[in-house]
Amino acid sequence: MELGLRNKVAVITGASHGIGRAVALELAAESCDLAICARGLEALEETRREVLAKGVRCEAMPVDVTDASQIAQLFERVTAVFGRLDILVNNAGRARGGRFADLTDEDFISDYQVKVLAQVRCVRAALPLLEKSPAPRIINVNAIVGRVIQSGLLATATHRAACFALNKGLAIELAPKGILVNSVNIGFVLTNQWGASRRHNLPPGKSLEELADEHARGRGTALGRAGRPEEVAAVIAFLASGRASFVTGSSIDIGGGQGAHI
Ligand SMILES: NC(=O)c1ccc[n+]([C@@H]2O[C@H](COP(=O)([O-])OP(=O)(O)OC[C@H]3O[C@@H](n4cnc5c(N)ncnc54)[C@H](OP(=O)(O)O)[C@@H]3O)[C@@H](O)[C@H]2O)c1
Repeated sequence: MELGLRNKVAVITGASHGIGRAVALELAAESCDLAICARGLEALEETRREVLAKGVRCEAMPVDVTDASQIAQLFERVTAVFGRLDILVNNAGRARGGRFADLTDEDFISDYQVKVLAQVRCVRAALPLLEKSPAPRIINVNAIVGRVIQSGLLATATHRAACFALNKGLAIELAPKGILVNSVNIGFVLTNQWGASRRHNLPPGKSLEELADEHARGRGTALGRAGRPEEVAAVIAFLASGRASFVTGSSIDIGGGQGAHI
């Protein structure tokens, strides 16, 4: 399928690992130029090298998306280097574990900053450029846990639910400018976020992938396995493309059938 992404410019937050990295490689394979960010520069540079090997341009910047001034610098750089922006992928984030009794005000505030406020700020900073694009797109990475409460993830669930409202509200408010806004809602995808702490402490005879599949089944994933970052990236590339020209305000679960909600 021709996605028509050649020579478009995309910003991807949290692109040094996992889903963000897979999105960077997928969009680069579609000949999209990229600006990528994360806090840690070493892994980000590794992604940048892989992206450059696909023959596109790529700027990599160390940015903490909870810091408004660093977000502003990222989009200033995009303006200076590319002079345009077509696609914003708000992906940076991480799960905040804990039940109500375990979570402090500070836990809620820091989780709100990375999940909700970072998306707000990136959209605000991106708007002047997106408004000039012939086919502007915002894709927010969200989580099924914002729709289906899971034990031990209360702060994450609270803020992911807010992200559903933000996604839909932005889609409605930005539609007159032709900016399409959609989210993908992750169920369980095997990435660094979950794998890093378990990789070196595996039960005897079990691979990380097998452990992840067990975890996915335990969370009610109908397909009975964990997802792969590339499976998320493929949907994001579609939403970024001209093929999704009448899709806005949608929230697409990428969860292998996780959750009994409709
Ligand atoms: N994997 C899942 O099953 C799952 C489920 C639900 C939702 N999600 C969401 O999907 C998104 C991607 O997750 P993932 O599984 O791919 O995680 P990952 O492998 O841990 O990658 C997260 C990426 O975000 C970056 N990041 C984290 N905090 C950041 C910050 N404050 N500023 C800038 N960059 C930041 C990380 O780099 P640095 O640490 O160097 O900054 C890294 O590049 C996240 O929003 C996550 O909450 C994932």
